[in-house]
Amino acid sequence: MDPDVFSKPSVDSLKVKPNLVDYDSSYANFAWESLLSELDWLPGGSLNKAHECIDRHALSNPEKVAMIWLGKNGEEETYTFSDMKRETDKFANVLKGLGIEKGDRVFMFMDRVPELYISVFGTLKAGAIAGPLFSAFGPDPVKDRLQDSGAVALITSPDLRKRISGILPDLTDLKHVIIINKLGRETSPLDEHDLLYDDIMSTASEESTIEQTSMHDYSIMHYTSGTTGKPKGAVHRHLAILQQYATGKWALDLHKDDVYWCTADPGWVTGTSYGMFAPWSNGVTQIIYEGGFRATAWYEVIQKYRVSVWYTAPTAIRMLMKAGVDLPKRYDTSSLRFIASVGEPLNPEGVAWGVDAFGIPFHDNWWQTETGAILIANYAAQEVRSGSMGRPIPGVKAGIIDEEYNEVPVGEEGQLAVRPGWPSMFHSYWGNQSLYNSRFKKGWYITGDTARKDEDGFYWFVGRADDVINTAGHLVGPFEVESALIEHPAVAEAGVIGKPDPLAMEVVKAFVSLHQGYEQSDELRREIMRFVRGKLAAAVAPREIAFIDSLPKTRSGKIMRRLLKARELGLPEGDTSTLEDE
Ligand code: PRX
Repeated sequence: MDPDVFSKPSVDSLKVKPNLVDYDSSYANFAWESLLSELDWLPGGSLNKAHECIDRHALSNPEKVAMIWLGKNGEEETYTFSDMKRETDKFANVLKGLGIEKGDRVFMFMDRVPELYISVFGTLKAGAIAGPLFSAFGPDPVKDRLQDSGAVALITSPDLRKRISGILPDLTDLKHVIIINKLGRETSPLDEHDLLYDDIMSTASEESTIEQTSMHDYSIMHYTSGTTGKPKGAVHRHLAILQQYATGKWALDLHKDDVYWCTADPGWVTGTSYGMFAPWSNGVTQIIYEGGFRATAWYEVIQKYRVSVWYTAPTAIRMLMKAGVDLPKRYDTSSLRFIASVGEPLNPEGVAWGVDAFGIPFHDNWWQTETGAILIANYAAQEVRSGSMGRPIPGVKAGIIDEEYNEVPVGEEGQLAVRPGWPSMFHSYWGNQSLYNSRFKKGWYITGDTARKDEDGFYWFVGRADDVINTAGHLVGPFEVESALIEHPAVAEAGVIGKPDPLAMEVVKAFVSLHQGYEQSDELRREIMRFVRGKLAAAVAPREIAFIDSLPKTRSGKIMRRLLKARELGLPEGDTSTLEDE
């Protein structure tokens, strides 16, 4: 018997202990136990994602390529696991030298460059919590997230720093700004208080350093939108690596010789759980592609680097479909063995198009920021059920429940819910315990989606149960957009909905009423649009703005987005008994 087994935590300690009242432990882990020995662990039973993803492979297979980075200007850099170990050790030593301690929040606001990956894993090695942000964000979302989390350090680039320079004085917890000027390609001037990544790394110690984090210590946080309030920071533990590793195999069919490409940005959870943790815990080589979407460029990547496993999203698939099925045939895409999709519903046409274009179907799977890893999937070993998200992974019990939290009969629609206790389950919304607890009812985690289950146990997505908008796979909270809109001096009130869109599934549409003295005009509409884009990000700002004399509200003054949406779609208005007289 492997003596190390004794230094590993017992199954009991693995059992997730969510801090909620009605947790039902009988649904805890099936055979997660059997996977424990596949993780490497640190001496004394500590667990750190950076060790599982980087150091472990650097020790056993140092020259294996971890990352091939393809820059947006055609640059290419290759990093072995040994390179990754050295660089992440150095970055962890830099952070420790700055006084950053276990549990501190370190945020990354930067493009998809190798240093982003190095800084995330260096942060984990230092025992701190990494918070990667979408680099297209404007100042408002960055400020909200850094303030809410009390981030002490920010890693960014000269141009992005310039974009948010106005908010930095408001960030009272922020002590360090580290600037990465990748290949010297950005021109914005530097602030004398900032630290230059290249300088501090050139003198950093290469000594192996890794904080002895426990599996329950926090590793990463991602802000995600809800119906009300600003986005909340969903926090994950180091333990999540167990499920990210397992689903990399089960749902994405990763094998050690694969070349894997996840097209998601690490500012969103797919870009970390499956753009960092799942592939690297499996020791797989991955492509990091910094550029945006262009069908020909994407096919070139697959051809040139012999990508074998590809994880992307329905909006991208629809854009590829638009570019035509003949286009991929001009490239050698025969290296592709498994292709998968997540983030929005993938309709049967998308699945079938995979077969026409590449000879294999897209495998849809389902999960959320809060779930940390895939929970429902179409597996490689089984025939894809077109249009369905698949079946729960081993160790996860899902259900379709009614308003009283009882399971409904097969085939009926209801709320998609999951029994708590899977290893990658989020462990808090930063600083908001009551909201966290509210996601758990009668022994279920309530996902916020509606769905149905068929007689074979496949789950079919129906919609969102709340007002959250899914645009091109990005969740947008209406409140965040409304808050930005009403900061414009002309806007009195704003209501934001998701309007169906053939490409992006939904786009953000805003209804605004104006203060007295302002005239509705196309020019004003464009100005408000520009104003909000500058604050948020083009991806989450409204694509359409409609003027309206007054917004429908409940008697208690809440804007009735549901009614705005019904009117927009020409649907019945439903129960309007709480509507204030218009
Ligand atoms: O509404 C569901 C949708 O995306 C939401 C989760 O978004 P986010 O927290 O940003 O996590 C992204 C990581 C996947 C879900 O609540 N969604 C996700 N996957 C699917 C989906 N909708 C339909 N089909 C899917 N496969």
